[in-house]
Amino acid sequence: MEKRTKSENIVWHGGAVTYEDRCALLKQKGLVIWFTGLSGSGKSTIAVELEKQLTAEGRLVYRLDGDNVRHGLNGDLGFSASDRDENIRRIAEVAALFKDAGVITLVSFIAPFRRMRAFAREKAGENGFVEVYVKADVNTCAERDPKGLYQKAFKGEISDFTGISSPYEEPNQPEIVLDTTQNSVEESVRKIKEYLQSDGF
Ligand SMILES: Nc1ncnc2c1ncn2[C@@H]1O[C@H](COP(=O)(O)OP(=O)(O)O)[C@@H](O)[C@H]1O
Ligand SMILES: [Mg+2]
Repeated sequence: MEKRTKSENIVWHGGAVTYEDRCALLKQKGLVIWFTGLSGSGKSTIAVELEKQLTAEGRLVYRLDGDNVRHGLNGDLGFSASDRDENIRRIAEVAALFKDAGVITLVSFIAPFRRMRAFAREKAGENGFVEVYVKADVNTCAERDPKGLYQKAFKGEISDFTGISSPYEEPNQPEIVLDTTQNSVEESVRKIKEYLQSDGF
């Protein structure tokens, strides 16, 4: 990613409170859990359940969901390749801020391009990023069709639809793979929590 700073007259102003201070205060490690996968694969469903369980266990969690963010912050963006890049660029920046605030940040965006997920990882810092590939084949997703989008895409009413008329690049080395054609939502959530425990989060 090229540097996008337009102004030359800005100087970073450091604070007196660090990421570590905030994590100590919250008794948790701020991190980004990035769910990627086709529309209808189960990203939002799993993230909502994980958020619910971790919150009940006393963790501070916040969820950034593709559809929700496109209502506000990214409402000016469409689904062309460059708008998708900008969508992910902004949310990678926002997620990194939440992580820095000490929050367990759940991000559920299709994020179809490896390059942009690599950017999100770089922003969060290598030890604060967990990539979760929510895996389901396009036929299963189209059968579920929770938002009726596949039906529209098949009729040609949606252009640049991931998995149909726009590519999805599978992750090469995700920290976690959840096959939602095999695992229930509960099992997927348990898998993520086990990973977080084993990795000292
Ligand atoms: N094992 C499973 N894991 C997650 N979702 C599942 C599973 N089986 C069926 N579903 C259903 O699939 C749909 C996934 O939709 P959603 O979570 O909105 O996907 P995404 O956010 O990836 O677009 C939901 O209607 C959910 O109830
Ligand atoms: Mg979703």
